[in-house]
Amino acid sequence: MPFRLLVPLGLLCSLLPLHHGAPGPDGTAPDPAHYRERVKAMFYHAYDSYLENAFPYDELRPLTCDGHDTWGSFSLTLIDALDTLLILGNVSEFQRVVEVLQDNVDFDIDVNASVFETNIRVVGGLLSAHLLSKKAGVEVEAGWPCSGPLLRMAEEAARKLLPAFQTPTGMPYGTVNLLHGVNPGETPVTCTAGIGTFIVEFATLSSLTGDPVFEDVARVALMRLWESRSDIGLVGNHIDVLTGKWVAQDAGIGAGVDSYFEYLVKGAILLQDKKLMAMFLEYNKAIRNYTRFDDWYLWVQMYKGTVSMPVFQSLEAYWPGLQIKDLRDHKLDNRMESFFLAETVKYLYLLFDPNNFIHNNGSTFDAVITPYGECILGAGGYIFNTEAHPIDPAALHCCRRLKEEQWEVEDLMKEFYSLKRNRSRFQKTTMSSRPWEPPAGPGTFSSPENHDEEREKKPAKQKIPLLSCPSQPFTSKLALLGQVFLDSS
Ligand SMILES: *[C@@H]1O[C@H](CO)[C@@H](O)[C@H](O)[C@H]1NC(C)=O
Ligand SMILES: *[C@@H]1O[C@H](CO)[C@@H](O)[C@H](O)[C@H]1NC(C)=O
Ligand SMILES: *[C@@H]1O[C@H](CO)[C@@H](O)[C@H](O)[C@H]1NC(C)=O
Ligand SMILES: *[C@@H]1O[C@H](CO)[C@@H](O)[C@H](O)[C@H]1NC(C)=O
Ligand SMILES: *[C@@H]1O[C@H](CO)[C@@H](O)[C@H](O)[C@H]1NC(C)=O
Repeated sequence: MPFRLLVPLGLLCSLLPLHHGAPGPDGTAPDPAHYRERVKAMFYHAYDSYLENAFPYDELRPLTCDGHDTWGSFSLTLIDALDTLLILGNVSEFQRVVEVLQDNVDFDIDVNASVFETNIRVVGGLLSAHLLSKKAGVEVEAGWPCSGPLLRMAEEAARKLLPAFQTPTGMPYGTVNLLHGVNPGETPVTCTAGIGTFIVEFATLSSLTGDPVFEDVARVALMRLWESRSDIGLVGNHIDVLTGKWVAQDAGIGAGVDSYFEYLVKGAILLQDKKLMAMFLEYNKAIRNYTRFDDWYLWVQMYKGTVSMPVFQSLEAYWPGLQIKDLRDHKLDNRMESFFLAETVKYLYLLFDPNNFIHNNGSTFDAVITPYGECILGAGGYIFNTEAHPIDPAALHCCRRLKEEQWEVEDLMKEFYSLKRNRSRFQKTTMSSRPWEPPAGPGTFSSPENHDEEREKKPAKQKIPLLSCPSQPFTSKLALLGQVFLDSS
């Protein structure tokens, strides 16, 4: 999630002056190379500590200096850090880790995994590293990028998540057992972000492997959320994926929802999909209308638009820019989240490295021969997933099976550059006046009125553990005047 920062906040502050753009004491501009080295030192301190003390566990516990499995049992920090290694220029370590992962990671394990986290960290991390392998000097196999060991791993991990999508609504459960599928008695309540944050990874996977199932389930989940919005155009925080009824009816743009909106935009750009962008623009109107008060975004009741939580959540700071990161208070946890190396360090480093390949403006690229013809990679315009794993959008056109869909290089390149230049304004420019046609679908969801009746009959009926949702304890605790009190503490 790009909007969370930083576990070792103190560490960061001690390394970076507050006004890094200000001139130095002698009046000269600060040397970016200096800051690059400091960010690198920070990365290697954390990374080497993980390798020494925690590998093969998922994450490092920095206070007790050991490792533990957190989101599965995948050596998660290594998967999450892989593309950062390349961005920092460490090709030899990238190559070594690719070997290590192939030898060590097994998804055929009896683990209850978060569908959301496994997707953004494991599937996203492996896809990104797969697409960067050649640049990192890995000897790729003949069919690359339409085949390769990391792609096979990403596909295997994603297949383990598919049983979660087999619900009457098509919206996924939050948790799945990697060996046995959905556990009997699993809570059907999933947060909005846990339903709408798959299209970037799953569409990439479908394009590369040629199997449409991933993109299809991601799209169905997005459509069902869209159809479940209230009459005034808002979505809530948690929904029952068996019945399609909203369980937490607080609408806002903070934890539990944020990456859904983010993926509508990123999916629209990655797939050049006008419907996804139209959905985002509709939400944007309703959200500005109902949840924005001066410069604050509040939580409101999704059917009535009345304020439900008069508490400002700093996460909301992302809305105006979709790239702005959030500085959230963090107590000193005995935990180094894998996103520290995947995301925090990466974004920080890229600030100080304007010539990084990630910033490529299209002046260079790699031509690749695939089994389906020639295609272009590495020209820039990377889409970062919500765990900051960059996806090369051009790669989606490398593995097309159908002749009539052959990629027209020039048109696409033009679109990328244009979008890139307009990136900060894309919400306004990209599709402003296209009429939105509602997607076809069974439309079997109960009306907002029914939701309300249901809720009034059984207020705060039960305490449901929300295993799957990003930052959910924080959200639940904020439900002061909210509709349902889910927090069990
Ligand atoms: C790459 O990473 C490894 C492991 O941290 C380290 O030993 C090595 O010095 C790094 N190489 C470069 C060029 O930074
Ligand atoms: C997974 O969750 C189910 C249901 O809550 C539980 O019975 C099972 O023991 C869990 N498995 C593991 C490996 O934790
Ligand atoms: C904005 O809110 C008002 C009620 O406060 C409503 O009448 C109007 O339709 C809303 N407009 C949009 C675009 O949501
Ligand atoms: C693109 O990047 C190259 C190399 O960094 C630079 O020389 C060129 O001026 C850039 N072009 C544009 C249009 O920004
Ligand atoms: C980018 O912005 C320019 C000027 O604001 C506009 O003419 C152009 O159509 C925009 N391109 C896209 C793809 O939105």
